[in-house]
Amino acid sequence: MNRFAQICDQLKNEPKSWLVTGVAGFIGSNLLETLLKLDQKVVGLDNFATGHQHNLDEVQSLVSQEQWSRFQFVEGDIRDFDTCQKAVQGVDYVLHQAALGSVPRSIEDPITSNAANVAGFLNMLHAAKEENVVSFTYAASSSTYGDHPALPKVEENIGNPLSPYAVTKYVNELYANVYAKTYGFKAIGLRYFNVFGKRQDPNGAYAAVIPKWTAAMIQGEDVFINGDGETSRDFCYIENTVQMNILAAIAPEEAKNEVYNVAVGDRTTLNDLYQAIKNALAESGIKVENEVVYKDFRAGDVRHSQADISKAKKRLGYEPMFRVGKGVEVAMPWYKFFLSK
Ligand SMILES: NC(=O)c1ccc[n+]([C@@H]2O[C@H](COP(=O)([O-])OP(=O)(O)OC[C@H]3O[C@@H](n4cnc5c(N)ncnc54)[C@H](O)[C@@H]3O)[C@@H](O)[C@H]2O)c1
Repeated sequence: MNRFAQICDQLKNEPKSWLVTGVAGFIGSNLLETLLKLDQKVVGLDNFATGHQHNLDEVQSLVSQEQWSRFQFVEGDIRDFDTCQKAVQGVDYVLHQAALGSVPRSIEDPITSNAANVAGFLNMLHAAKEENVVSFTYAASSSTYGDHPALPKVEENIGNPLSPYAVTKYVNELYANVYAKTYGFKAIGLRYFNVFGKRQDPNGAYAAVIPKWTAAMIQGEDVFINGDGETSRDFCYIENTVQMNILAAIAPEEAKNEVYNVAVGDRTTLNDLYQAIKNALAESGIKVENEVVYKDFRAGDVRHSQADISKAKKRLGYEPMFRVGKGVEVAMPWYKFFLSK
């Protein structure tokens, strides 16, 4: 049995109390689903800035009534310290996901991204420290590698941030480190690399590439690629990300006050990704006719991204179970169903 399976067994036998911020969002709602299925008690905090009630409704439909009764939702904003303090009361583990994602959003409106991602983060970190929680795990980002040219990305080597969003996520890491040094409160940062899967929002100007293209292909619209399509990413299926959050939350003291890459260690070009989605849709009976339309490169985007995941494997026992192709295949039926509603 691997470390993750062992921890899941342990949690089932001795349920704990969790706070998931950003619980109505993509990653937050997937964390909620897994934790409730493990019979955990979960408090969820969200202000619906980009999250949706329908994500919570879907989780409710996937767990038993008894499991759902262990969930308490707090509608509130992490920019308000009192809200953070109330939400974290009596909690063992915090999984802090709430933030405004998207590089282009942060370029359009850096002030609001900063308020949620920096001030909101600090509120949550401070409230968790005051509550003396067992652990605080937060969503960091691969954007922190910025203009550092090395591939694959190793946690210790970062460059200059390329967007306001990247600055906010880097500031999270700086604060976490200062809290460890100043107060002995040791958090864990998870540098996510392009997470995808069910409940990732396909709508809106700031949708991520996989849901956006999938929706366009299903609806017979054009798919736009920024640049020549040879830009590459380490796409990480949501189940891998959920695994890392739980491993991080339960991590021993010596593995804390660290950041870890959360990815697969693969590099997929946008052209290859397009083909993978097209093939997966064909498997589920949807034939894509439209050709790709190439546009200019987008400001703030890094050209290539690929993670070295050896630190997470060695220190947390991380074993990603899904590579991009399998993840896309598993996610497609959900998009087909969601977009037909
Ligand atoms: N999805 C990715 O590929 C990816 C990559 C790197 C980092 N991340 C980080 O992971 C986290 C979760 O991202 P996601 O993809 O699930 O995005 P998401 O937009 O689906 O979820 C974010 C959630 O946070 C909530 N939120 C935003 N501002 C808030 C506030 N002020 N108060 C309370 N709730 C607030 C939103 O309503 C939403 O439900 C974010 O911190 C994001 O920056 C995501």
